[in-house]
Amino acid sequence: MTPRHCHGLMTGNPSNSGFQLYPVVTEALAAAIPENLSFEQAVVLPLAISTACAGLYQKEYLNLPLPSANKAEPTGQTVLIWGGASSVGATAIQLAAASGLTVVTTASTGNHGFVKSLGADIVFDYRSSTVVQDIATALRGTKFVGIYDSIAEEKSFAALADLVETLNISIPVASVLPYDKPTATFAPKYVLAYAIIQEPNHHVGEWIWGKFVPEALANGRLQAKPDPFVVGTGLKDIQNALDIQKRGVSAKKVVVTL
Ligand SMILES: NC(=O)c1ccc[n+]([C@@H]2O[C@H](COP(=O)([O-])OP(=O)(O)OC[C@H]3O[C@@H](n4cnc5c(N)ncnc54)[C@H](OP(=O)(O)O)[C@@H]3O)[C@@H](O)[C@H]2O)c1
Repeated sequence: MTPRHCHGLMTGNPSNSGFQLYPVVTEALAAAIPENLSFEQAVVLPLAISTACAGLYQKEYLNLPLPSANKAEPTGQTVLIWGGASSVGATAIQLAAASGLTVVTTASTGNHGFVKSLGADIVFDYRSSTVVQDIATALRGTKFVGIYDSIAEEKSFAALADLVETLNISIPVASVLPYDKPTATFAPKYVLAYAIIQEPNHHVGEWIWGKFVPEALANGRLQAKPDPFVVGTGLKDIQNALDIQKRGVSAKKVVVTL
């Protein structure tokens, strides 16, 4: 059994896309999973892994040290992952922690325990009116090396622009959606999940999918989180699943079994 990132968006070929029993996948985006992990659990990970890695490890983004499936050497560096309870954010937290970084993140209060269980060191409620000031206070005096915005909506961009201005710094920012109002000090770079297997960053994909994912899934360093929220079975339920996702989920990955 393998979890794999279906890369149909990269190839434009429907045979490489999801929502089918036998997608044709590239070996570069697949990894063995342990016997004790079901498909429903494992499927929460692949797209989140590639998307998180694209921003965390590519040279032109945060360029963090690659993660270790064993005990990570502390780097003394700090990263901010905005939206740690999202699928992409939950995986980004685990990867950054496995790279030896101190992880600061945001989530609603009900999900603070969840993001800490994944390796976040400090968590703030993004709905608090003082969230930007509180994060700025926590980051001052740290070796703050980058921001990963796993939400990339108007509210997260506004908070992060405010944070960068408050700290008066220039810092790499990776975002899961494009930002159309970049300034000299705040210019998030849009990540593309499949870019980790393309030049010049294919070494990221090779390390992550070839080495880190199988080892870290086997020893429990990488958890298949957030939990799957199975909302149906078969193609007839795909639209309902998309509607549920569109309405919004909290620390859950919408899944349809086939
Ligand atoms: N560029 C790419 O290659 C790529 C690939 C995959 C996904 N994406 C994009 O990435 C985005 C995230 O996808 P996803 O599936 O990971 O999301 P998701 O799991 O559906 O996100 C839901 C979570 O977002 C959190 N959240 C919502 N608004 C927030 C805010 N303002 N600040 C902080 N946290 C907030 C919520 O946290 P609480 O429950 O704690 O409130 C909730 O748990 C989507 O826009 C998706 O299209 C891009």
